[in-house]
Amino acid sequence: MYIVGEAEAEAAARVIREGALFRYGVGGECDRFEARYADYLSGGSADAHVTMTVSGTYALTAALVAAGIGPGDEVVVPAHTYMATATAVLAAGAIPVIVDIDESITLDPQALEEAVGPRTRAVIPVHMWGTAANMDAILEIAERHGLVVIEDACQAVGGSYEGRRLGTIGLLGAYSFNYYKNMTAGEGGAVYTSSADLDQLVRCSVDPCHFYWDGREEGFTPFAGLGARASEITGAILNVQLDRLPGMVESMRTERRQILEATQPLEAIGLTQSPMHSPDWDCAAHAFYLLPTTEAATIFSELASGVIAGKTGRHNYTEWDQVLAKQGAAHPQMNPFNFPENAECRADYDPEMCVRSLDILDRTVLIPMDPRHAPAEVEAIAHNIEVAARVALEGRDRSSAELRDTTPLDRQKFDLASVDGD
Ligand SMILES: Cc1ncc(COP(=O)(O)O)c(C=O)c1O
Repeated sequence: MYIVGEAEAEAAARVIREGALFRYGVGGECDRFEARYADYLSGGSADAHVTMTVSGTYALTAALVAAGIGPGDEVVVPAHTYMATATAVLAAGAIPVIVDIDESITLDPQALEEAVGPRTRAVIPVHMWGTAANMDAILEIAERHGLVVIEDACQAVGGSYEGRRLGTIGLLGAYSFNYYKNMTAGEGGAVYTSSADLDQLVRCSVDPCHFYWDGREEGFTPFAGLGARASEITGAILNVQLDRLPGMVESMRTERRQILEATQPLEAIGLTQSPMHSPDWDCAAHAFYLLPTTEAATIFSELASGVIAGKTGRHNYTEWDQVLAKQGAAHPQMNPFNFPENAECRADYDPEMCVRSLDILDRTVLIPMDPRHAPAEVEAIAHNIEVAARVALEGRDRSSAELRDTTPLDRQKFDLASVDGD
């Protein structure tokens, strides 16, 4: 969604003009992006591996497969995420166990602790809406119970947790580059790991034939991966996008800091800022407010141009139709819910099972940041938040609410004409 300009068009055109659309043999953009993104994520570590793929969904699937998750395993996922977090678990042949989020709208560590059972093998914390999950608490619980941690950083490209990039803290991390993400090529995904062995498994999952081009470690036994190789056009666009990313994230962090500071006094009338686990480091793609009632959240959200987290229509577990209906695959014999190995896994889904999450989500309002906002627009957003809070919480007259225009004026700010290569 974010910012795509002439530099991306030029990069894609170059690949087409050169006829170098395939990453192996003729290309080089995907290789270059993988190396650069691995550097960016790890701060230049020699043990950093990135493998591109076609989507965040497939990145999660490949990460689970590489981690050895499969039939007989339960994987804990939060009640609020895009359904791919759960469907990737099914694609690996395992069973998702859905647990509550807390007021930070990320996985509640207490809910994880309570959910761990004899079959639980892994947990997928999701850095939802760009905000970091409570990684210290999750890692501590995971270590105590011997769980694999796979981070879903699909919505958190460019963010960190206390100085470590999101997606690099667990055993593996998955990213999405679809249209709505901080870094985009329309579609795309990637897996990060610091283990060369796991990376080999991820690569096999993404492209069963990559050994033909890349060579193969002695002793590695390939398996039948699905095939989800990225194109050079994606690689070329992402090489430009990666140059934009740090400036965009910094800009969103500044914007959110200013908005949260300006609206902090509204705590006195009941406008609570949602807790964050790494406010100085995350992507700052949104500011979050927790309202006391759903009615107040509705009014506040309308006037402040926000989005109610629980009302996006696709991010609550109650909206993951295939999962709740236990349709884990097209063919019944490929459906993990029918595998004898999964007979003891807990799949007793019920729309009511995480009502605490639904209550929090219906009262949480997301205010999107935009790196192109100029200072006047940031002030206008803070002004509108105050007006909205006074109507929603103090009962001020809605018809006299004077709202300001917040459309970004500085549209050229990040529309780079050209970007340095390296
Ligand atoms: C939290 C989360 N996980 C996974 C995905 C899947 O990514 P993709 O759409 O690239 O398959 C998304 C994408 O919307 C997401 O938001």
